[in-house]
Amino acid sequence: MNMEKTKTEQNKTIFELQNLCHHFGEGKKRNNVLYKLNLKIQEGQFVSLVGPSGSGKSVLLRALVGTHPPRSGNVIVYSGKNNEIAVIKKKPDRDIGIVYQAYSLFPFLTAIENVAFGLKLDQTKMLGRLLLPIGWRRLRKQHMELAEEMLNKVGLSEAKDRYPSELSGGMRQRVAIAQALIMKPRIILLDEPFGALDEATRNDLQDLLLTLYQENLAEMKKGNRPAYTVLLVTHELYEALRVGDRVLGLSPHWDWKKEHERFPGAKIVYDEPAPIYSPDKPADFAAMQRQKNKIRKAVFDPIEE
Ligand SMILES: Nc1ncnc2c1ncn2[C@@H]1O[C@H](COP(=O)(O)OP(=O)(O)OP(=O)(O)O)[C@@H](O)[C@H]1O
Ligand SMILES: [Mg+2]
Repeated sequence: MNMEKTKTEQNKTIFELQNLCHHFGEGKKRNNVLYKLNLKIQEGQFVSLVGPSGSGKSVLLRALVGTHPPRSGNVIVYSGKNNEIAVIKKKPDRDIGIVYQAYSLFPFLTAIENVAFGLKLDQTKMLGRLLLPIGWRRLRKQHMELAEEMLNKVGLSEAKDRYPSELSGGMRQRVAIAQALIMKPRIILLDEPFGALDEATRNDLQDLLLTLYQENLAEMKKGNRPAYTVLLVTHELYEALRVGDRVLGLSPHWDWKKEHERFPGAKIVYDEPAPIYSPDKPADFAAMQRQKNKIRKAVFDPIEE
């Protein structure tokens, strides 16, 4: 396939996996999940991750977030002016934001309060004790202003004072995305974020991500660094190709029998650029179909022996 190289591919590395392995259980009960994953993600990339059910996509995301560190290998996050500072990730922090499929909003907070919540937790820890009530009020005002800005970005300014129970599924996922964005993480992980939504709503939320990608491209054109880096887990190959500028396939189907007696874990068996879409650019269905077939063959079909 003659695929144009994507622009973000030349950016600095923001995030790296080095020989990452993960398993559950020990002895006879040992379940090997991930085997020696090596991967670099560049700043501004929108990477889609696909793979058969049970291949370890969610396990990988949890290892990246730091809630369930890998059994071996490293997750490295790069920061600093030129991404010159490399830190081995040991625990969850602001570097990485995550949006889950199941809505993770607080039912007793309004949309805007939900979005502001992360900032509140983060900043009042250090400052809360030092600040007098006046300073605290000013800080809260800042948080609410930022939260409002984020809700505007995800197209929800009208609904900012509603509680989650008063929002549709798609609106709740928008709030969840705003919650992640407001923390300005180095990378945002999305684990099947639109899986529970109907087709049209899902399409709208894909458009939201495509808008963020277009913002990246505009910043890069001006010589600035792109603001958003995304890793999206999805079951839908169409979604993977439409939203991502790169597609990764995680799969248990590779020729491990050559060197191993038992299955050592899934590997990344597919890593290719994907065409870039904007919300108003219709998908090239013929090209998409060709790439979908390749992905199916490489990632989902058991290998022939
Ligand atoms: N907490 C856990 N304890 C034991 N095994 C686990 C745990 N979490 C996941 N696993 C196992 O790890 C493997 C990968 O699971 P994972 O949830 O990452 O799959 P997935 O690729 O996200 O699948 P899906 O597409 O269905 O969401 C499975 O064999 C699962 O049983
Ligand atoms: Mg999963």
